[in-house]
Amino acid sequence: MKDSLAGTIFTKIICRGEVGSTNDLALSMLDSGEDGAIAVSADSQSSGRGRLGRSWYSPPSGNIYLSIMMRLDIPLRDASLFTLISGVAACTGIRKSTRCDVHIKWPNDIVFNEKKLGGILTETRVEGDLVTGIVTGIGINVNMLKAEFPEELQGIATSLLAETGESYDRREAAVAILKQFDVLFRDVFPQYRNNKIREIDLSGKEKLVYLWKSLDITLGKRISVKTPNETVNGMAVDIGPAGQLLVMSDSGEKISIHAGDVTVLNGYSA
Ligand code: BTN
Repeated sequence: MKDSLAGTIFTKIICRGEVGSTNDLALSMLDSGEDGAIAVSADSQSSGRGRLGRSWYSPPSGNIYLSIMMRLDIPLRDASLFTLISGVAACTGIRKSTRCDVHIKWPNDIVFNEKKLGGILTETRVEGDLVTGIVTGIGINVNMLKAEFPEELQGIATSLLAETGESYDRREAAVAILKQFDVLFRDVFPQYRNNKIREIDLSGKEKLVYLWKSLDITLGKRISVKTPNETVNGMAVDIGPAGQLLVMSDSGEKISIHAGDVTVLNGYSA
């Protein structure tokens, strides 16, 4: 993996057997003073974590459990760009390395044939209104058999193998994701040096949002979004410049949503 990533932003690549959680390992590296950009991958996780306090089923079945740690200094308002970068990187990395037609479901699910193939969990370290470190965890079900999914996930979750009947080289897929992350990150933050991000490149950011929109299956659909404060039903109409979901609610209000859980209505419920 190391050789394939020479010349990218990644200063260290760490590959492990079983860990608790690659995000926890990456966060502990951040907290112990590690610098730069580090990728941590594992064969399995005994306490894989998902969004909203859920657990992430992580058996040793040839899946991707990958976290990217970055020490940096960026305003809190720009942290959502990492969710966009990771989502587009995961989706395009999988597409390029496997030729499977996967999509993104806002804010951070990777879906295949209308089922959840993977997810992204971004965690930050914040001081005042500055993000000083970020860990983005990416989990993708690659070679897990249909029968291996726990009962509660059957019908909702899937893997590339379960959908296509083929197995894939997960290392190659993980490298493709990291390469895409590197390109997108440098497009948006071309001046990243010594952990500092001086300016965001606006055309890089526009390109990122454009790419996201072309991969997102939420737009143009009737959805229900559960935010921390309310549930909004309506039509997903656009993605804003900061990655927020713009919804035309059933009561005719245009609402900008920064965080929430989306259900696409009329059939699809991953
Ligand atoms: C979700 O809830 O959809 C996000 C799932 C994120 C899972 C990945 S697997 C690698 C990394 N380590 C973790 O413990 N979680 C993330």
